[in-house]
Amino acid sequence: DKKIIISPSLLAADFSKLREEIAEVEKFGAEYLHLDVMDGNFVPNISYGAPVISSLRKHSNLVFDVHLMVNEPDYLIKDFAHFSDIITVHAEAVKHLNRTIQLIKSFGKKAGVALNPSTPLDVLKYELKNIDMVLIMTVNPGFGGQKFIPEMIQKIKDLREIDKNIDIEVDGGINDETAKLVKEAGANILVTGSYIFSGDYKKKIESLK
Ligand code: DX5
Ligand code: ZN
Repeated sequence: DKKIIISPSLLAADFSKLREEIAEVEKFGAEYLHLDVMDGNFVPNISYGAPVISSLRKHSNLVFDVHLMVNEPDYLIKDFAHFSDIITVHAEAVKHLNRTIQLIKSFGKKAGVALNPSTPLDVLKYELKNIDMVLIMTVNPGFGGQKFIPEMIQKIKDLREIDKNIDIEVDGGINDETAKLVKEAGANILVTGSYIFSGDYKKKIESLK
């Protein structure tokens, strides 16, 4: 079994003290930091971009796990490669997924592909061997604090059966209860926003693991 990694989503942090928030989750055992970038186009919301993330980079040793909810994100990738460890794009947002994956890897970064709840795994059939991580969205992207979509459990199981080794990240509505279900199904990287940032980071991180 793969080690469980926790990736707190900065979207749910207190934006007036990001540096302190990151230090806290790092201290209490999170390994990754999930950074949700939204363009107000692929998703109906705008979050933050490169200037915010790059200024946090020098204050943290966490793995920067960047989730681009952006249409045709190729134009951002070179810039983001300076401060990201993993760059994840949405299969639904790119025309030439193979090219985008190659672009991410050309900068020596790990490549992830995210799938919206209604997108089947089939779109990755010929790319799985080229990517490092699949992000199974367990809510519709765009907002924190939404309810976990239970049909995604089967999707995680199906993917784990197809590929025993690939990193499977889940994002949306993860708390102590849904964490159990997704881990059993085969996910190994858990994004957590509103659950963890609502307080008691230490206890929350332990409960997810
Ligand atoms: C949603 C984002 C998530 C979000 C998760 O579009 O991709 O990363 O912050 O938030 P919670 O854990 O509150 O569902
Ligand atoms: Zn996300």
